Amino acid sequence: MLQTQTPRTLKTVAQKSTLTITDITAEAAKLDAFDNHERVWHGRDEERGLNAIVAIHNTALGPGLGGTRVWPHETFEAALTDVLRLSRGMTFKSAVAGMDFGGGKALIIANSKTDKTPALLEAYAEMLAALNGQYFTGEDVGFTVADADFLRERTPNVTGTTVGGSGNPSPVTAHGVFLGIKAALKHRGVATLDGVHVAVQGLGSVGWTLCEKLHAEGARLSVTDIDATRMEQAKDAFGATPVALDDILKVNADVFAPCALGGVLSAENIPLLGAKIVAGAANNPLVRHEDARLLMERGVLYAPDYVINAGGLLNVAAELAPGGYDREATMAKVAKIPETLTDIFARAEAQKRPTNDVAAEIAFERINAARQR
Ligand code: NAI
Repeated sequence: MLQTQTPRTLKTVAQKSTLTITDITAEAAKLDAFDNHERVWHGRDEERGLNAIVAIHNTALGPGLGGTRVWPHETFEAALTDVLRLSRGMTFKSAVAGMDFGGGKALIIANSKTDKTPALLEAYAEMLAALNGQYFTGEDVGFTVADADFLRERTPNVTGTTVGGSGNPSPVTAHGVFLGIKAALKHRGVATLDGVHVAVQGLGSVGWTLCEKLHAEGARLSVTDIDATRMEQAKDAFGATPVALDDILKVNADVFAPCALGGVLSAENIPLLGAKIVAGAANNPLVRHEDARLLMERGVLYAPDYVINAGGLLNVAAELAPGGYDREATMAKVAKIPETLTDIFARAEAQKRPTNDVAAEIAFERINAARQR
């Protein structure tokens, strides 16, 4: 368990604004997903359609950094659970990747295709500005580079913009995942992607680029997406085999690469998993942290999500470094993702522990050392 830090303050929202920001940390603390998060805020603006939560998990290493997800959760509790889990994951992601940032994440409860109006984004920009530099955001599911650019014109706490920033982080995330898949295969004695069968769930920004890279090195692809057109496009572009949503887990592939949303692997469906490696971009692919043990017992090698998908965070964080974004230095850091994974795989195997326990231990070591300093 991480410690709660000193309470933080907000800048006052301009008097004429219709936005209200409420500290809901105490309400969040009632949920299982709460893990001593430092602060959780709810931003509400009925007039402009904003219903957003910003969660700051831990800032021992630096200010909270993590993307904004736009997703139409059916209940507020489901949204709160999602953002609590995601922000916690960002703490670990930053720590393992050696970055001086803490864990933060935002969730706008809305349909990104129909509800994301300029008015809503204006209100959200006000909310970010009021958080006073405690949280830096960027892209996530439903939140695009164009959205980041829009916000950046209104508030400085935005990364992944094309306005003097590093742009879309997804290709960098995909590159890190691609290198991570190769590291997992290598750990299992497979030296080449040629003929390797990968089942990819989700053909969005990251999933699609990942498919391009895998296909270019001779991998065979089975794919699924809730958007059937994407599957048809993948069939044309990569000769991929489209698979029904519920069947992707069961595909007898070498690697299962979850690149859609989280919560896709559970005690119920892990026995049905066809692949012997799980390595993908999705945050929180396991319903419970403990499910990694079930994977281990089944002989499945799990690449912890926040280790393998850190490329995008490394890319956007580089914007905030003194001197600004340096692509070469960033890609050199991304190239270390397979090394970190290989170390985690080896330690986990030697100690007969799940890989995500070993990864968490590495994160805690850094966070605790920072706290002691
Ligand atoms: P995206 O929104 O571009 O793509 C997600 C894709 O998954 C969409 O094509 C969507 O139709 C599909 N999808 C949604 N539910 C599905 C389901 N039940 N079954 C199959 N397909 C489904 O998102 P993006 O940026 O590609 O991110 C993918 C995952 O990777 C997310 O979990 C995200 O949090 C994570 N991630 C993304 C990073 C980035 O740089 N974009 C960085 C680190 C993690």
